[in-house]
Amino acid sequence: MTTILELKGITKQFPGVLANDHVDFDLKKGEIHALLGENGAGKTTLMNILYGLYKPDSGELYRDGKEVSLNSPKDAIAIGIGMVHQHFMLIPVFTVTENIMLGEEKLKNAVLDRNGVSAKVGELSQKYGLEIDPESFVEDIPVGVQQRVEIVKTLYRKAEILILDEPTAVLTPQEVEDLFRIMRELTSQGVSIIFITHKLKEVLKIADRITVMRAGKVVGTAIPSETDESHLAAMMVGREVILNVEKEPAQPKEDVLQVIDLKVNDLRGLEAVRGVTFSVRAGEILGIAGVQGNGQTELVEALTGLRQSTGGKVVLQGKDMTNNPPRPIIENGLSHIPEDRQRHGLVLAYPVADNLVLCNYYLPPFGVNFVMQNKAIDENARKLVKDFDIRTPSPFVPTSNLSGGNQQKVIVARELSRPVQLLIANQPTRGLDVGSIEYIHRQIVNMRGKGVAVLLVSAELDEIMSLADRIAVMYQGKIVDIVDTQKTTKSELGLKMAGAQAQA
Ligand SMILES: Nc1ncnc2c1ncn2[C@@H]1O[C@H](COP(=O)(O)OP(=O)(O)O)[C@@H](O)[C@H]1O
Ligand SMILES: [Mg+2]
Repeated sequence: MTTILELKGITKQFPGVLANDHVDFDLKKGEIHALLGENGAGKTTLMNILYGLYKPDSGELYRDGKEVSLNSPKDAIAIGIGMVHQHFMLIPVFTVTENIMLGEEKLKNAVLDRNGVSAKVGELSQKYGLEIDPESFVEDIPVGVQQRVEIVKTLYRKAEILILDEPTAVLTPQEVEDLFRIMRELTSQGVSIIFITHKLKEVLKIADRITVMRAGKVVGTAIPSETDESHLAAMMVGREVILNVEKEPAQPKEDVLQVIDLKVNDLRGLEAVRGVTFSVRAGEILGIAGVQGNGQTELVEALTGLRQSTGGKVVLQGKDMTNNPPRPIIENGLSHIPEDRQRHGLVLAYPVADNLVLCNYYLPPFGVNFVMQNKAIDENARKLVKDFDIRTPSPFVPTSNLSGGNQQKVIVARELSRPVQLLIANQPTRGLDVGSIEYIHRQIVNMRGKGVAVLLVSAELDEIMSLADRIAVMYQGKIVDIVDTQKTTKSELGLKMAGAQAQA
């Protein structure tokens, strides 16, 4: 296979961060070359350079062996490069065709061209099995199809090199399968793809080659048949990582949390949780699976006292806690790892030590007669920093100085180090590196072992499947099914997450 693209020694410095450090990367015709790395490794920066959005500080770029210089995406498009960003850039109230016409300056006779564009989109859709209707409105089509509109947009502009930046992050498992099928179709017809992800299973499944980045540098390149998940994880993180959480079979006891026909409105006053009923028992992990935006956020907010419910009941340890504020719920045994760690989990300007007592600073030994006991707070901080392996120069720096993974560990340390009967963990590992994920998973399983009832909400199906004993699937504000993890499969769950009727 011929090399159609080569990046040599690409370096890009942002204030305080060397985002790309002498990166070499190449792409062959018709291959899927995965770029694998943790958050912050420098993947998007490299691709933005390749798409003409950033100028590198140094390094060279070759297209078909000829050196090129890119000053804007227009230059990149001109040499056949197309990029689908992490966040789509489509206009919801426009049709597919209108979205594709946007930004095409040559369309002076837009009215006349419209049918032509529509026909061309239909043709491309047919050719690559994209299954797009050129006349449908973007707001009416599912996320997976919107992504394909972004793909067809690049093809319409004659892309031969397609950059997909974390395309699977927003997809259900079935949509991921569809995307992979389309990627194979594209490469079989000569398109070359750079596929960015931090998911090990995905690269092993779809890539021809895998290049791993860590902290701005290329660590190495591997071929799927000659590597495996743990090897790739070690390359990503820079040390050995235990990927599978080991746990004993659950021994659930009494109900700790009972939720009965709960209804909750979202910010706009629309019913986001539409009557859900479930319970979580001591010593078990109940996972809530679902595509984001199906009421999980509102459900957790209502359970933790951050949002009023409009109907139904929440009972914690036999006590009716419906519509109580957070403090009495916490005092009745709740620990909460919130979805939005910076808004609900931490006061970033406060020192780490203070964030570690955010829920109980007013109780002995930390607060006595309304006086903060600094010695006790300091001791607590030193112990938790050590026990939970929080990487910080000292317990007294502002929490904002810590990396995302370490900020999350501050929350986990605080929430798991006090007496707790119910742990609600919402997206506990989102955006974290594999090493921190491993650590937090182990802590959650430990809590279960101590007889805590755990409610785990996650958009990562792999996380739910490896931790939860039972899985409740949420779709459009309802729990469509609750299943035993042992007795289900990823694809079965994926179908339910997408709203397919539960098989009787
Ligand atoms: N526009 C920017 N300004 C400053 N820093 C940035 C900018 N874009 C990215 N960075 C930093 O560069 C590093 C690499 O980021 P990025 O390329 O987005 O990583 P990845 O896509 O692998 O998650 C990170 O530390 C990030 O904070
Ligand atoms: Mg990125």
